[in-house]
Amino acid sequence: MPTDTLPQPETNPEKDPAGSAGELIRLEQVTKRFGNNTVLDHLDFSVDAGKHVTLIGPSGSGKTTILRLLMTLLKPDEGTITVDGQQLFPASDKQVREVRKKIGMVFQQFNLFPNMTVLRNITEAPVTVLGLSKDEAVERAKGLLDLVGLADKCDAHPAQLSGGQQQRVAIARALAMRPQVLLLDEVTSALDPELVAGVLDVLRDIARSTDITMLCVTHEMNFARDISDQVLMFDHGRIIESGTPEKIFSDPELDRTREFLSAVL
Ligand SMILES: Nc1ncnc2c1ncn2[C@@H]1O[C@H](COP(=O)(O)OP(=O)(O)OP(=O)(O)O)[C@@H](O)[C@H]1O
Ligand SMILES: [Mg+2]
Repeated sequence: MPTDTLPQPETNPEKDPAGSAGELIRLEQVTKRFGNNTVLDHLDFSVDAGKHVTLIGPSGSGKTTILRLLMTLLKPDEGTITVDGQQLFPASDKQVREVRKKIGMVFQQFNLFPNMTVLRNITEAPVTVLGLSKDEAVERAKGLLDLVGLADKCDAHPAQLSGGQQQRVAIARALAMRPQVLLLDEVTSALDPELVAGVLDVLRDIARSTDITMLCVTHEMNFARDISDQVLMFDHGRIIESGTPEKIFSDPELDRTREFLSAVL
């Protein structure tokens, strides 16, 4: 496929004049409560540009909440969130809209627009949000469909595709916005087992061939081991352990991590 259709994240030249990879995402002292349930408790962490970071941890530990905060689907009760040097929280609505353009997300449920063709699903936001011409958006979409192995499905409707194919369209749709950050939340959990590998292969390919920053929640530990620069182990809304995948998966420090991994591996 032509390389110009691969995601080319725009870097912030003021922040990063030498083009060296700096910090792209920073959460500082982020607290999120639902009623009196404190889901994230003064959480601090950062992700450098171009890195692939995987969040693991038991159900209810706050992994999806972090991704939802970054997507501005939720607001923290306390703390600050910064993306590419610009504050996402607290921030004005205008600033939030600007920063949001840097972030793409793929969920467990693909949420494609059922009444639109595959091609239109991918071109819609680049045209309406980024202001691309229809031709530019179509060219970009076709390149991405090629990347996810669905070049022949432009005119299909989502209901005519398998779950794995729909999820690959959802990945192409997120990449069409050329986000700097791709958030992935258990993107293979809703798929039949035989469709999982195809989607993970596409993500491996994206991790290898682009410099997009990935923040990924997954129970696919082999995939996490392959693509991650860093793994963060969550428990009760805190990072209890972090390190390279080799370290976390083969020689974790904490019993809690060991116990969690033995339950999922
Ligand atoms: N909209 C909401 N309203 C109330 N409580 C919520 C809401 N969203 C999440 N929670 C609670 O926040 C906690 C963390 O949820 P979150 O979805 O972040 O967990 P998770 O680590 O992604 O879990 P899983 O592995 O099951 O997806 C849970 O206790 C959950 O019940
Ligand atoms: Mg979750």
